Amino acid sequence: MKSTFLNKVAIITGSSGGIGKATAIGLAKQGASIVINGRNQEKLELVKKELEQMGFDVLAVAADITSYEECERLMQETVNHFGKIDILVNNASLTMDDSFENLHPDIFTKVFLSNTLGTIMPTKAALPYMKLTKGSVMFISSLAGMHGLPAGSAYCAGKMSLTAFWQSMRIELNYTGIHFGICYVSFTQNDASKRMLSSDGKLVPIQKRPEILKQSQEQVASAIIKSIKERRAKVVLSVFGNITEWVFRYFPRLVMFTIVSLNEKKMNLQESNAK
Ligand SMILES: NC(=O)c1ccc[n+]([C@@H]2O[C@H](COP(=O)([O-])OP(=O)(O)OC[C@H]3O[C@@H](n4cnc5c(N)ncnc54)[C@H](OP(=O)(O)O)[C@@H]3O)[C@@H](O)[C@H]2O)c1
Repeated sequence: MKSTFLNKVAIITGSSGGIGKATAIGLAKQGASIVINGRNQEKLELVKKELEQMGFDVLAVAADITSYEECERLMQETVNHFGKIDILVNNASLTMDDSFENLHPDIFTKVFLSNTLGTIMPTKAALPYMKLTKGSVMFISSLAGMHGLPAGSAYCAGKMSLTAFWQSMRIELNYTGIHFGICYVSFTQNDASKRMLSSDGKLVPIQKRPEILKQSQEQVASAIIKSIKERRAKVVLSVFGNITEWVFRYFPRLVMFTIVSLNEKKMNLQESNAK
């Protein structure tokens, strides 16, 4: 078990919590040296300590992955410390919960860019190093990257654009031998501290989802790691996720009708509660 990723170096963006942290732990358990990342240095240092206490080889690099310069620094610090990069998991993301009509343009930009540039810039900065190792780049998407959803316009637009970027990478960079994979994550248990952005940039609690449909962070992490190991191109997580993808593909009008109806019901309820 420990030998699968022995001598491999993995960067996991957005790994100071949630799925990113679980993926970092999963890769480390299988022998990888890991680089954890997030913007908040303090949070990152706490996670670094926790992982070191578990006996893992960890480097923590605080960097905003929407900035190319910061991504270059992330890669440079990794190579200075570990000598190479084998795996890049593009996991960091911000999410939101409000209608497009209400959404402040700056908040749209923030959420959209965290999902688009936040994936594109680390990939660009890692490319020269990954060409040497013919490693794996994973894109962490969502069911929201398959179909637009209400109260999630910037997140859905960001996640859906990852599909196009992943396809371009697979075609353009096929000759490099780098594996490019995408993972569409379904409903997952969240850290209690996880927050979404509201229309005016306030951090608000995450929307409630049926517990029965949620996977644990460890289940998601182990599916991401399996995709890297098997160099799989595309993975959709959970039975619910696979059924959803199938329905989206074969019954697009029914899907649109259902989502519109549910959204209008929710809006009417909110309106009558506000009176
Ligand atoms: N949880 C779910 O139900 C679910 C469902 C579908 C898909 N996903 C996807 O799975 C991935 C992980 O989700 P999660 O729920 O585990 O997220 P999370 O708990 O909110 O963690 C997000 C991580 O990203 C970091 N981050 C955010 N913006 C960043 C930036 N600009 N630069 C560097 N780091 C940044 C955060 O740290 P700082 O705040 O310190 O920067 C944090 O470590 C995301 O791509 C998400 O879209 C999640």
